[in-house]
Amino acid sequence: MKIDAVSIFPDYFAPLQLSLLGKASDAGIVDFHIHDLRAFASDNHHAVDDTPYGGGAGMVMLPEIWGLALDRLMVDETDLIILTPAGKRFDQLMAARLSSASHLVFACGRYEGIDDRVRQHYSSDQYSKRNIRVHEVSIGDYVLGGGEVASLVMIEAITRLLPGVLGNPESLSEESHNEDGYLEYPNFTKPSTWRDISVPEILLSGNHGEIAKWRAEAAKQRAADNL
Ligand code: ADE
Repeated sequence: MKIDAVSIFPDYFAPLQLSLLGKASDAGIVDFHIHDLRAFASDNHHAVDDTPYGGGAGMVMLPEIWGLALDRLMVDETDLIILTPAGKRFDQLMAARLSSASHLVFACGRYEGIDDRVRQHYSSDQYSKRNIRVHEVSIGDYVLGGGEVASLVMIEAITRLLPGVLGNPESLSEESHNEDGYLEYPNFTKPSTWRDISVPEILLSGNHGEIAKWRAEAAKQRAADNL
């Protein structure tokens, strides 16, 4: 999978070299390219934004500069992801769907976002004919300073689903078995008693059927407690 990200703060993407993502990249499973949006700004000040038509607070990112940056990245079969708190909520299902894409482009807006004509332009027929799809995505109902951290969240969730990325692919099948909403039961490791708290007896029993039942129930309880 090829992943491009466009941002005025390319340094935000340094964590892509660490841990799981770093290894996936070293192994050639995913190919990251980070682009500095400002490189496409031609005026002396390298401005990337201007005041909004219609008035109001904040600044809006210029369509011309985004167009120059994105035109170079829009090959056939591309999913363009525009990060915005107004987008569709990111979840595990969206991560799973995007993990079968061949090319993802993350457009990281700052300020009050990117001029909406950028979304409109790349959503038009000339692009959909080439299997270029545009998604406006939010990672949650809160406002970040920009789309960089949101992109990292999405990239990590998507990349770990690619074949060969996780050391133990069984972790993925356990997760998918639990997509009924009760994702995680509580986990325990050694010692069996810590600060007077003992691990539930059943987990030490070796009875896999009973352990599975206990875990399903505990996951359900946890989900209910966290509502
Ligand atoms: N940009 C600012 N806030 C965001 C959010 N919650 N999700 C995605 N992009 C954002």
